[in-house]
Amino acid sequence: MNILILGSGGREHTFAWKIAQSPLCKNLFVAPGNSGTAEIATNVNIGVTDFEAIKQLVVSKGIDMVVVGPEDPLVQGVHDFFLNDEALKHVAVIGPQKAAAELEGSKEFAKEFLYRHNIPTAAYQSFTKQSVEDGYAFLETLKAPYVLKADGLAAGKGVVILEDLNEAKAELKRMLVDAKFGAASTKVVIEEFLDGIELSCFVLTDGENYKILPTAKDYKRIGEGDTGLNTGGMGAVSPVPFATDSFLNKIEERIVKPTIAGFKKDKLPYVGFVFIGLIKVGDDPKVIEYNVRMGDPETEVVLPRLKNDFVEILKAMANGSLDKIDIEIDSRAATTIMLVSGGYPEAYEKGKEITGVSNITDSIPFHAGAQLQDDGKIVTSGGRVMAITSYGNTYKEAIKKSYQNIDKLHFDKMNYRKDIGFDL
Ligand code: AMP
Ligand code: GLY
Repeated sequence: MNILILGSGGREHTFAWKIAQSPLCKNLFVAPGNSGTAEIATNVNIGVTDFEAIKQLVVSKGIDMVVVGPEDPLVQGVHDFFLNDEALKHVAVIGPQKAAAELEGSKEFAKEFLYRHNIPTAAYQSFTKQSVEDGYAFLETLKAPYVLKADGLAAGKGVVILEDLNEAKAELKRMLVDAKFGAASTKVVIEEFLDGIELSCFVLTDGENYKILPTAKDYKRIGEGDTGLNTGGMGAVSPVPFATDSFLNKIEERIVKPTIAGFKKDKLPYVGFVFIGLIKVGDDPKVIEYNVRMGDPETEVVLPRLKNDFVEILKAMANGSLDKIDIEIDSRAATTIMLVSGGYPEAYEKGKEITGVSNITDSIPFHAGAQLQDDGKIVTSGGRVMAITSYGNTYKEAIKKSYQNIDKLHFDKMNYRKDIGFDL
């Protein structure tokens, strides 16, 4: 098969790394890709939402399957675009159609779905500019802290959690009336605050059947001890030590099964990955959010633990035969540490040379914001630069290996968290 991956981060390098190992994959393309995918696939400099350019590439290279990495093309309807085009409709697309991608594209849509299907989640109400006064009144009925969420996609910045009621009211006004997040905050969801520890659950579905991948825990804050600004993710651990068999069973029965059944009942066409952001409140899982893609950097610890031929799984997802697949998981732990540009998640410089990648022996460097220059040098091109993944008999052993290998790498103003796994 000829396969195209859309995206350019660590998640997409990990997809490429796993797909390239399959004898079923003949030619592998990544658009736009990074320095890591350049080593194992052909990078094509096309944006992930440039559907016409993607069409030309797919037709000219005889591509049989497109694996969509990030949410943007899904929310903009890339799967529907393929289905509605005579020249593309035979191509398998891994990622839900637009109607289902709304689960990530709209927080209100996701909350309504969760309520309709009785899936445990935080209580909520949503408000618009017209009902901002009702929003203030609703805030007054809640206890601190206050959780405000811009309804639409806001580049991971649309959730604001505040301790003070007056600050929460002022923030609600900024979001709804002053359009703080542009069109994304035309609606705002206000939620009950849930106190617990978070984890991520990843589900594959062909729309009918599902398979659950290993759990992972992501470290979202920039600073040690989970302090400072939110980032895309600074590291991850799989499996999650506190996710016992009985807890995983609750996740499957109370959340995964009604979610997949909900797709069918609501006629939401879903072939792809479901990333369920969960929080453990007491001994019970509750849904914080749905994402319609894999997580990044969670992919960098989940896929390395998958023993199956990934292309066989992707084909089964596209063909509706996921029930014929037995998922096999490596019993070792996997961890990843994200190396980021100094200053990230605020302003940072790009174009810093990355040296020492070839000295890494027993970890896997998954490239993210890193590009290969014509002179053969690898330089930084984003905030999150590289995820260093390791295996270990325990997560502690794996983390130690990642930190040992990070010592062999260098770029100007390189930053990373030294405490991944601290809370486990
Ligand atoms: P989201 O984009 O919905 O995943 O929210 C971003 C982060 O905000 C989550 O990863 C949680 O850490 C936090 N968060 C979101 N909703 C809640 C909630 N209802 N209670 C507590 N924390 C939350
Ligand atoms: N690491 C969180 C995400 O991919 O959204």
